[in-house]
Amino acid sequence: MWVQPPPGERSGNRGFHPDADEAQAQARVWDRLFSQVPLEKKRAERDWGWLVGRLRRAGVRSVLDLGAGQGYWSIALARAGFQVTALDISQVAMERLRTWAREEGLDIETWVLPAQQLPTARRFDAIIANSVLDHMTLAQAREVLRRVNAVLNPRGLVYLSFDAPGGEAVRPHLVLPDGTWYYRGGKWDGMLWRPYRDEEIASLCAGLGLEILEFTVRESGARAVWARPRGG
Ligand SMILES: C[S@@+](CC[C@H](N)C(=O)[O-])C[C@H]1O[C@@H](n2cnc3c(N)ncnc32)[C@H](O)[C@@H]1O
Repeated sequence: MWVQPPPGERSGNRGFHPDADEAQAQARVWDRLFSQVPLEKKRAERDWGWLVGRLRRAGVRSVLDLGAGQGYWSIALARAGFQVTALDISQVAMERLRTWAREEGLDIETWVLPAQQLPTARRFDAIIANSVLDHMTLAQAREVLRRVNAVLNPRGLVYLSFDAPGGEAVRPHLVLPDGTWYYRGGKWDGMLWRPYRDEEIASLCAGLGLEILEFTVRESGARAVWARPRGG
């Protein structure tokens, strides 16, 4: 199903189609965005005790950083001694992370692919997706969580975060039938972002066999979720 640009948009713009080609289009969008922003290494210097401590207490050794971006979280976790695999749809972001990890002598495996195509052969003790699931359609987010559940070790942990639902309403966007925004024009042209309600996050997790351990709403309105496989 195609969603066409509203009448009056300049010709040459195309609609949105959530298929394999669209994954390539999303990769191009994120490559473009990352090419326009510098790597800010000091963002890996914040206090990660809340994350590192929780993972250590749960006995976690291997972590998959899903939608890792330039790798602030991956670097921090690798420095703390975890065995980190970083996945992102953006080649540009993963290249930067590879270079950074090499400079620090950190061994971080990097995978460039859409999270909805996460291979299910490897297992991880923990999976982290910070501000990632809201950058895809609802069907894609479901597929990602289905795969997350499949690759988690039975006593594994999941950390997910979702932006505040208010979003950047001022920026022009189309709304896809599932409620996902498709930004048009400006620096975010082509980016997907879906405003999630708290109940939707809860039902997304529950529907895919994840038991929520903790659901936090930050002052900014962003949501953070710790979960584990049901029965884990
Ligand atoms: C807001 S950034 C967050 C980056 C990182 N998690 C962080 O907190 O610094 C969203 C990230 O999701 C990635 N992304 C978007 N759609 C994706 C998809 N379908 N599969 C994998 N990564 C995706 C983008 O390339 C980008 O790196």
